[in-house]
This record gives sequence, C-alpha cells and structure tokens, in this order.
Amino acid sequence: MDVESYLKDKSEKVTKCIDGYFSRPDAHVPEILREAMKYSLLAGGKRLRPTLCIAAHVACGGIEDDIMLCASALEVIHTYSLIHDDLPAMDNDDLRRGIPTNHKVYGEAVAILAGDGLLSEAFLMMLETPGNIPVKNILAALKDVARAAGPAGMVGGQVQDILSEDKEPDRETLKYIHRHKTGALLASSVRIGGILAGADDKTLAALTSYGDGLGLAFQIVDDILDVRGDEQLLGKPVGSDQEKHKMTYPALYGLDASMRKAEDLMADSLKALAPMEQAGLDTSVLKGIAEYILRRTH
Ligand code: IPE
Ligand code: IPE
Ligand code: MG
Ligand code: MG
Ligand code: MG
Repeated sequence: MDVESYLKDKSEKVTKCIDGYFSRPDAHVPEILREAMKYSLLAGGKRLRPTLCIAAHVACGGIEDDIMLCASALEVIHTYSLIHDDLPAMDNDDLRRGIPTNHKVYGEAVAILAGDGLLSEAFLMMLETPGNIPVKNILAALKDVARAAGPAGMVGGQVQDILSEDKEPDRETLKYIHRHKTGALLASSVRIGGILAGADDKTLAALTSYGDGLGLAFQIVDDILDVRGDEQLLGKPVGSDQEKHKMTYPALYGLDASMRKAEDLMADSLKALAPMEQAGLDTSVLKGIAEYILRRTH
C-alpha cells in the first residue's frame, strides 16, 4: 500500500473513532461544549500523530484495533493545542483546517474550555484501551504522553514560542521551541506505539530517535509552508509567523537551508530505525510517513 492510501485509511478510522467517542450521550456535558469540541475534532486534519502511533505499534508486532482509542487520544490532545494556539492571546489566527477557528465561532471563553475539555477527555480515552493490552503498558504510555504534552514538553515549547516573538533568533532557543512545542508529542506518538506493544528497550530507543528527528523536521517544514505554502491547501493562513515576528527556521537560516536541515534530520531518523530492521521488524511504513512529511504541501 502506498503511503497516501495508508494515511487516508488510518485517518478515516481515527475520525470514526473520535466521532463515536464524542457522540456518546452524557447529560453532564453542556451541548455547546460538545459542539465546540466536535467542531475542531471533525474539521479534518492529517491525523498524523495517531497514524504514527499505529504504524509504530504494528511494526512492533501489535494489532491496530487494540490501540485505536489510545492513538485517537493523541489527535484529541493535538486538537486542543491547535484551538489554544489560534487564540488571540497566542497566534491570533482566524482559519484552521479550512474553516474559521474555534474562538471565531464559539467565542474565546468556550474555545478555551473546549481545549481544556479535550485534554482531560484524551486521558479518559486512553484508559479505555481494551484488556488485551497490559495495564502496565497503558500506564507507561499515559505517563509518556502526559509528559510530552505538559510543561516539560508541548506547553513549555509554546510558552517559549510566545516569549520569543520579536526577539533576535538564536539556534538553541529555536531548537528548544520546535523540539518541545511540536516534536515532543510527535515523538511520544511514535514511542507509545512501541510501549503499548511491549517493545524492548533497544526498539524504544530506535523509535525515540526516529521520532525526535521527525518531530523537529515536521515543524521546520511547517515553518517553510508558512512562508511559501498555499493557504487553500494548508487550510490555515500563510505569513502568520512573519506577521507575529516568530522565531522560525526560515527567519534564522533562510528557506533553502531550512529545507536541507529538515532533509538531514529525516535522513538521520531513517538511519535510527536500523536496530529494528536488524531485529527483523518491518519499518517500511514508518519510512514512508517520514518521506511524506518532507514533501507534504499541507
Ligand atoms: C499543525 O499540525 C500544528 C503543528 C504542530 C505544526 P498539523 O500540520 O499536524 O495539523 P493538522 O492536524 O493536519 O491540521
Ligand atoms: C503550533 O505551532 C504548535 C502547537 C500547536 C503545539 P504553530 O503555531 O507553528 O502551528 P500552526 O502553524 O499555527 O499550525
Ligand atoms: Mg503557535
Ligand atoms: Mg499557530
Ligand atoms: Mg506554523
């Protein structure tokens, strides 16, 4: 199966899982909150984090259906981060996934709370993972994701991103921002695929190293697309980073050098999978996704 069909298949399954989960009746959830959460969850998106998780899990001998809820929970956390990222106090963007941002439709207060709701619900989703996955693996995955999404991961990166607006870019701060605001959750997505499959330490180290390189490369490509992407294809505004004087790879290194960095990182990511291949595991899907990330247009 080519990588595009693989992504399409996983994306449809993840969307179905999320739709089913968030459509369950619960008299305690205000209707407007449910609507706001589903508005952003079901607006599309590449579903890359769940797809990476599934690909890693299956590469390690796991079964896709066992981890659908865990994988989908990654998308729920990611969606919360996008809703908050677009708020006026943060990037102040009006378009996301091809439609008006959450706060433009529901107002800032409900958008903030929809994000909060998604974050908590994601952990409940992970805890519904079926019994064929050992509880200790579920707990290890939960801990990994919580750390990646939290102050030492995505939230820390987002804070540094905001504090660095209007500042002279420097290599170390820039790397910190990108590795944390985006890289941490992507790397965790890959790693928990392995953790849930009970992968050994050598495999987890290989997945971590693959995920780290891929995560940074992913955000470098995101920065490049913010300069020369197509708003129609991206479904979000271009030029937003320059307008906010964000610390980005193109701002520090220029477009071509940024692309070369992303390519080098991805080459290292692919090499990092070697121990898995030596152990007889099939890494072709993980490689295909990495290549897709480099040449993506949205
Ligand atoms: C956008 O992520 C935000 C970043 C972390 C760079 P994606 O490019 O994965 O966005 P969707 O999920 O496809 O909308
Ligand atoms: C966002 O980075 C990272 C997170 C949402 C955690 P960006 O601000 O560059 O993402 P886009 O370009 O708005 O999608
Ligand atoms: Mg941002
Ligand atoms: Mg943004
Ligand atoms: Mg961006």
